[in-house]
Amino acid sequence: MSQTRHVPVMLQRCLDLLAPALQAPAHPEPVVVDCTLGLGGHSEALLAAFPAARLIGLDRDKEALRLSGERLAPYGDRATLVHAVYDELPDVLARLRIPRVQGVLFDLGVSSMQLDEADRGFAYAQDAPLDMRMDQTTGIGAAEVLNTYPPGELVRILRAYGEEKQAKRIVSAVVREREKEPFSNSARLVELIRDSLPQAAKRTGGNPAKRTFQALRIEVNGELGVLERAIPAAVGTLAVGGRIAVLSYHSLEDRLVKQVFAAGAANTAPPGLPVVPERYQPRLKLLTRGAELPTEEEVAQNRRAAPARLRGAQRVREEER
Ligand SMILES: C[S@@+](CC[C@H](N)C(=O)[O-])C[C@H]1O[C@@H](n2cnc3c(N)ncnc32)[C@H](O)[C@@H]1O
Repeated sequence: MSQTRHVPVMLQRCLDLLAPALQAPAHPEPVVVDCTLGLGGHSEALLAAFPAARLIGLDRDKEALRLSGERLAPYGDRATLVHAVYDELPDVLARLRIPRVQGVLFDLGVSSMQLDEADRGFAYAQDAPLDMRMDQTTGIGAAEVLNTYPPGELVRILRAYGEEKQAKRIVSAVVREREKEPFSNSARLVELIRDSLPQAAKRTGGNPAKRTFQALRIEVNGELGVLERAIPAAVGTLAVGGRIAVLSYHSLEDRLVKQVFAAGAANTAPPGLPVVPERYQPRLKLLTRGAELPTEEEVAQNRRAAPARLRGAQRVREEER
């Protein structure tokens, strides 16, 4: 695991957003949760930047836990790593007897390790079994989705999760081909997508298989459903003054995050009240104006940062509405 292989995205900005909640005088022994440990890049920086903090790191990928475990070993019992899907955060904290936390970070999507390990099947650039499960101990892989889902369902997935305009064309080709022989490897799918697209569509936006691969990955891992539960759950674990930062990599993720933050930051009083009672007041304060983007310089150094969108919020009130 070399540094050239993995550069944490918008690292300094994430640290700056969380800092006021993780250092004195905010809290003597703050707890920060990294919900997407990956290779532990952000986590290591959090542990180094905030020496009083305890870190809880979650990942659904056991290989990620093993690698980040090695990387964070020098921090001893300041880091607790847990194999979990991030919508399980409240249960994980309950098991650890941690009532509230001061910081939460999400760096969504796949890790460089998952993309680089060809046999995981995430990358369209290398031929590999079509798996794409982040947790290889459970669920069905991408090949099974492709071989067994009804055509209408596949079209919906490609459109919704991949924003693929040519979804119908690709799915017709997939259905025709899978009847001859089920899909097992990525190269055949990449080739099929390339062959089924009109010339004009091939010229735009990089590898034409990119959107289909993203869509399959999101479906295989149930990513949006989990995220929809996880962000409100994470906000619920924050102590007053606690902060959350979320890095998204496509518009569907970012929209979900935006909606949860906006709902938390809204004043829900019926119109016309002269004084707004506490229960109607926002429980979140937005820390970013819209979504922040990586700098051009960062993107030039790390192309995986290019689609990143960062949003932050602070818990300002205790009560649930
Ligand atoms: C982009 S990587 C994180 C990289 C990390 N910030 C670093 O600096 O090394 C995202 C990680 O989140 C994990 N992940 C994705 N969805 C998850 C979920 N629903 N629950 C738990 N972990 C998840 C993936 O397995 C992957 O390791």
